[in-house]
Order: sequence, then C-alpha cells, then structure tokens
Amino acid sequence: MGHGSVADSATDAMLWSVPNPFRYDDPLPEAEQIGRERERDRLVDLCLDGRNSRLTAPRRFGKTSLVRAALAKAHDAGLTVVYVNFLGVVTVQDVVDRIDRAYGEHLDGALRSFWKSIQATLSAAPAGVGISVTSRTADPQLLDRLALPRRIGTKTGARVAVAFDEFQEVARVADALPGVFRSEIEQHGDAVAYTFCGSHPGMMRDLFAARRHAFFAQATPIPLPPLGVAETITTVAARFREHDRDAGEALDALVATAAGHPQRTMLLAHHLFAHTAAGSVAGPEQWSAALHDAERHVDDEVHSAWDALSDVERRVVVTVADGTVALQGQAAAAAFGIVRGSSTTAAAQRLVADGSIEPDDQAPSGYRVVDPMLGRWLRAGRRWPA
Ligand SMILES: Nc1ncnc2c1ncn2[C@@H]1O[C@H](COP(=O)(O)OP(=O)(O)O)[C@@H](O)[C@H]1O
Ligand SMILES: [Mg+2]
Repeated sequence: MGHGSVADSATDAMLWSVPNPFRYDDPLPEAEQIGRERERDRLVDLCLDGRNSRLTAPRRFGKTSLVRAALAKAHDAGLTVVYVNFLGVVTVQDVVDRIDRAYGEHLDGALRSFWKSIQATLSAAPAGVGISVTSRTADPQLLDRLALPRRIGTKTGARVAVAFDEFQEVARVADALPGVFRSEIEQHGDAVAYTFCGSHPGMMRDLFAARRHAFFAQATPIPLPPLGVAETITTVAARFREHDRDAGEALDALVATAAGHPQRTMLLAHHLFAHTAAGSVAGPEQWSAALHDAERHVDDEVHSAWDALSDVERRVVVTVADGTVALQGQAAAAAFGIVRGSSTTAAAQRLVADGSIEPDDQAPSGYRVVDPMLGRWLRAGRRWPA
C-alpha cells in the first residue's frame, strides 16, 4: 500500500490529539468488531462439541478477527486453544516452524512448561539444512507437530481447539500436504476441534468440497457475509459519539461506498473520523476529503490488482463493475469488448476462485466485484472519479 497507516495516524494525532478508533490493518479485538456475534457463537459451539469447521471468505473480511475471538471464548470455557497462521509458507519446514511458533505463543501456565518439556522430544531438522524438498511431505517433524493437540488433550483431559488460518497455503507447498494433515488429524476425533480458515475461495473449495478430501468436506462451513447495514451504522455512529463527534449524513455515503466490506468500511470510517473535528458533524465536505484519502490509500493496490489481470479478465471485471449488463450478452460485447464464449467463462471462474469477484444473483452480470474501492475505480474508467 502506498500510504502507510503510521503517517496517517500521526497526522490524525497532531490534528485532533485522539487516537483514531477505526483500525483497518490488523485483526480486530472482539470489542471493535461490527456484528459477527452469530458466527462467533456458532464457531464456539462447534469447538465445544469437538467438531470441525471451515471459514472461507475474501481477504480482509474478518476471518482472523473472528476466529481469534472464537478461540478466546473457547479458552474462557476451559479449552486449550492454538492459533496457527500459515500465510506465506513455502516449505514443509516453514509449516513446522509456524506450528512451533504457535505453541510457543499460545500455551500458558502448566501447558507452557509441558510444551517446553516435549519440544526437546520432537524431531528436528538436520542441523543447518532447511527442508525444501516438497516431496518429503510425510516428514517426521511435521507428523510430530500434527500429533501435538492429541498429546495435549491427553495430558490435560480437556478438549483442544486448533485454528489453521490461511490453510490454502498448506496445499500450495505441495499437493500431498493436505493429505498428510488429514491422515493425522482425522484420528483426533472429537478430542480436538479444528477450524480451517482460507481466503482463496477456489483452493478452499477444491480442498473442502472434493470427494477425495471427504474428511475436510465434513467440516461445517460458516459463511461470512458482508457487514449488515444497520449494525454498521449503529456501531460507527456510536464510536463517533464516544469521541464527541457526529458521523452525520456522511455515514450513509460511507455505508453505500463500503458495501459491507469490513476492511473498506473501517478504512473509510478511519478517514472520515480523521477529517471530523471534535464537537462537529461530518458533512459532504468531510466525506469527500475522507474518500479522497481512502482512494490515495488504495491506489497502489488497485493498480497492482489491475496489472495482474489478463486481457480477458480485465474485460470481465470492467463489465462486472459496471453492473448494468449481462456478462455474455450483446451489450457487454459492444461496450466492453467481451468475447462471448468459453474464454470469458473461464476468466470469470478464475476471478471467482481468487476472490476478486463473487457470484451475485441480483447483478445483471451474475457477479459483483468484492472490493468496492476497486469497483469504484473500474467504473470510473480505470481512474478515480473526479
Ligand atoms: N467484524 C468486523 N467489523 C469491522 N471491521 C472488521 C471486522 N472484521 C474485520 N474488519 C476489518 O478488516 C480488517 C482485516 O480483518 P482480518 O480479521 O485481518 O481479515 P482477514 O483475516 O479475513 O483477512 C481489520 O483490520 C478491520 O479493519
Ligand atoms: Mg487473516
């Protein structure tokens, strides 16, 4: 991202000398989340029952925030909880290291000493040699780590809840790796509850819906929809009030622009807050300044997203963002150069798989652009509206 939050918050602090209550870059603590109570309670119930679940949603839809809040609740209810994030793993050794790090960070009290005592008994990589050969997936190191929840459950007599975040990255390391996970953790029965999170809808679907992965397919899917309009308005308005500000009519514009996208909602709220002085009401002027800052903030990202698209994919996202015509109709061919046929269908499927667009029954094209800021830039002719 081109414009860092550090500089933004520094400016805010200088101008208004209160910290901005809207955070848009890290997983949010439960108290700062909008909605998601139902999803959280469902996840907690599944954990308490020792059942597995899966959470697939586009990037920055609040998966990590939600699963961490659920684990915190499960922990309060007496479960041992472990959160592992696989984002960016490329080797089996990375996978092993992430798991070790998670246990090092999340176990407390007696379990912490237990972890230290068993750590020495776990297989280690040969000195100085990182395991980079992806065919060595059934590595003893990894199997030892995957067996840990069972050992801990036996030790404590309590159920264990494990969250594997960005789980699709595991499949990226090697095709066989999810099978290695499965063969170990399917033996854990209801002693361990696993939550699998992933932000690549296509890879998650391949893992969790394919017959050959029947074990994963049994994990209960938890849908993570866009934030509700009413909840968003109530929460954002209340947070402005707590800081002696009134979000005013700008709030309607904000909710319409963010379209329920959690991170975009917070990004816009952050900038609106930054432009609203204490004791004042946010009006059209504050809103337009906030929107302008948010656009600058996402500009690099939007350009990279565009640059990464193929020619056919570009035509598809432009048509989808326009939102007025059928993807494979005459009008799309005339207005956006869509070539009707299988290449367009395939491009749309790829864009759905990577989370750029989503099926939408209401939309004439059958899809909507997931990121409302990207949609805005696309609709305005690949630039920001004046
Ligand atoms: N329930 C929520 N309410 C408001 N904003 C949210 C919520 N969940 C996520 N966000 C926003 O999205 C950002 C990314 O959240 P995160 O949990 O890291 O998403 P993910 O794991 O899906 O990528 C947060 O910094 C926050 O700004
Ligand atoms: Mg995340």
